[in-house]
Amino acid sequence: MDKLFCLDERLKKCASLVQESARLVDVGTDHAYLPVWLLKSEKISFAIASDINEKPLENGRLTAEKYEVNNIEFRLGSGLETITAEDNISDVVIAGMGGEVISAIIDESPLTRNKSLNLILQPMTKSEQLISFLYENGFEIKEQSCVISKGKIYTVMAVRYSGDTIKTDDAFPYLGKLDIKDETNLIFIRTHIKHLENKSRGDSSLLPLVNKLKRVIE
Ligand SMILES: C[S@@+](CC[C@H](N)C(=O)[O-])C[C@H]1O[C@@H](n2cnc3c(N)ncnc32)[C@H](O)[C@@H]1O
Repeated sequence: MDKLFCLDERLKKCASLVQESARLVDVGTDHAYLPVWLLKSEKISFAIASDINEKPLENGRLTAEKYEVNNIEFRLGSGLETITAEDNISDVVIAGMGGEVISAIIDESPLTRNKSLNLILQPMTKSEQLISFLYENGFEIKEQSCVISKGKIYTVMAVRYSGDTIKTDDAFPYLGKLDIKDETNLIFIRTHIKHLENKSRGDSSLLPLVNKLKRVIE
């Protein structure tokens, strides 16, 4: 059997937010690196690797075979439609997709409105849209940070359903629960500011938000 591979910093951060002994579903698993790594390192003992496309699942089956992992199920379908209440899932990872796709996956499944479910989300784009969706729909970020992986910056968050819609200001979707004393988090927030500044050239109504975000990180 091959020696266990290393996860990149992005997936390592997702893995660190998975609860010990979790029953995990990895939505959009592709090569199933995350569930296979978690099973091999014995942090968890059951996982479902789910994907909307057959080819990524084939890749995932090859990874599981290569590392002799048996306690993993592969399921084909969109989002969480592959999961039933009987699967008794405790943790869901949705990583490597756009913020709007992640929002739709959460919105479309009644399973996500469960206060004991740990949702680990890693949007590739539009994290601010995802955060707005979460707070408008009774979800709350418990933990959030940023990592640099292969020269790119990513944010990763652990989220729970509380059922309460928490009112936030216009800066919150860009800041989330990031600790602004952390240099990597600051790089991420500055990227948002730069993007908004560029947009404000054609839409001056964004300038107060740009200035607010600048003041927060000053
Ligand atoms: C870029 S890969 C991410 C793989 C892995 N999660 C990661 O973060 O490295 C995106 C995967 O999500 C799958 N995908 C896209 N939309 C999906 C959906 N609605 N439901 C399930 N899987 C989806 C794609 O087929 C692809 O395998």
